[in-house]
Amino acid sequence: MKTYLVTGGAGFIGSNYIHYMFRKYGDAIRIINVDALTYAGNLENLKGVAERENYAFIKADICDKSAIAAIFAANDIDRVVHFAAESHVDRSIKNPEVFVQTNVLGTLVMLNCAKNAWENPDGTYQQDKRFLHVSTDEVYGSLEEEGTYFYETTPYDPHSPYSASKAGSDMLVRSYMDTYRFPANITNCSNNYGPFQFPEKLIPLMINNALQGKNLPVYGDGKNVRDWLYVEDHVKAIDLVQEKGRLYETYNIGGHNEKQNIEIVKIILDTLRDMLPEQDPRRKHISYDLITYVEDRKGHDRRYAIAPDKIKAEIGWEPETRFSEGIRLTIQWYFEHEEWMKHVTSGDYQKYYEEMYQV
Ligand code: NAD
Ligand code: DAU
Repeated sequence: MKTYLVTGGAGFIGSNYIHYMFRKYGDAIRIINVDALTYAGNLENLKGVAERENYAFIKADICDKSAIAAIFAANDIDRVVHFAAESHVDRSIKNPEVFVQTNVLGTLVMLNCAKNAWENPDGTYQQDKRFLHVSTDEVYGSLEEEGTYFYETTPYDPHSPYSASKAGSDMLVRSYMDTYRFPANITNCSNNYGPFQFPEKLIPLMINNALQGKNLPVYGDGKNVRDWLYVEDHVKAIDLVQEKGRLYETYNIGGHNEKQNIEIVKIILDTLRDMLPEQDPRRKHISYDLITYVEDRKGHDRRYAIAPDKIKAEIGWEPETRFSEGIRLTIQWYFEHEEWMKHVTSGDYQKYYEEMYQV
């Protein structure tokens, strides 16, 4: 039975990954989820998993060397899937330090602890051990021209403190592969959406605001482009890369689903109107009049677009969920999880929202 050490498994993508892995492998795997439970980590995301005998949660900070080393000492870990990070660009613009701390130094701790646990005295590694570093397309910078794409060979050109810290962590993983032949892979994925996403990010923020009849703050001219991928397609790709990917390789993961932000906001409004029953009182709020153009994000990258050719050719992965279907599944999930939304938007979220959007 393989034992997985998942970092950041109480966050958006990590929790979707854990649910997916148990749906796929059932009792045939064991997962240890290590998460510091920052504002973005939420054990409510793991309801239905917590009671499994082949699952354990450990509250720990990935920067805490002795805590992470102790986890490796007490468990024979076969797979590390490293999600834990500070993930929101706007927060990185206001407070970069914690991004360097967690994303760069935390990744270094994870690499060192895995290396110490897995390395043989002659510098080779125990058989079938793999580390997957989950990263982002933002490390490649911004594409200005239509028809251009990010490839695995595209030079790094990060602009925000978030993407710079992720680029730093990617470089550390690359250096461990090159210097120590450390058994790892890196995946660089485009924008995810789906269940359990914290409402600081574009799609859940717009859904939540629209349902409450609040303004929908669109940065700049609203024409920045992101390449959206349904989260379940991402976590499937992560599993496939770990099981079928060539070690030491980087794989880009993306949806081939480029849309301007303003298009996304209008699709959300149209879909909400379509899905809410006539008599639902929230339906009367839903109108394009809620769209409010606000000051642009500093250093706002214009366009991201992934070429997922390598992962398709080598592993056979392709996005399965069309945006029109994924957005309905996502909105339905938020309809069914009003309590979840209430919990995550109580307390600190209000303060964050007021400071961020000056309302
Ligand atoms: P998230 O913010 O929803 O979750 C991050 C999780 O990491 C939280 O559970 C948080 O508690 C935990 N965490 C933060 N600091 C920690 C620390 N020091 N020690 C232990 N745990 C800590 O993020 P997400 O959107 O799920 O992203 C997960 C990973 O995927 C990140 O590495 C991110 O860079 C990458 N990624 C995200 C996207 C996206 O669209 N969301 C796209 C590509 C790549
Ligand atoms: O590309 C992958 C990245 O996608 C991940 O690495 C990051 O962790 C993830 O947060 C995401 O980054 P973005 O900055 O692209 O996502 P965000 O949802 O914050 O913003 C998407 C776009 O929408 C971006 O162009 C900014 C814009 N936006 C965002 C918010 C929150 C708005 O116009 N208004 C808003 O209120």
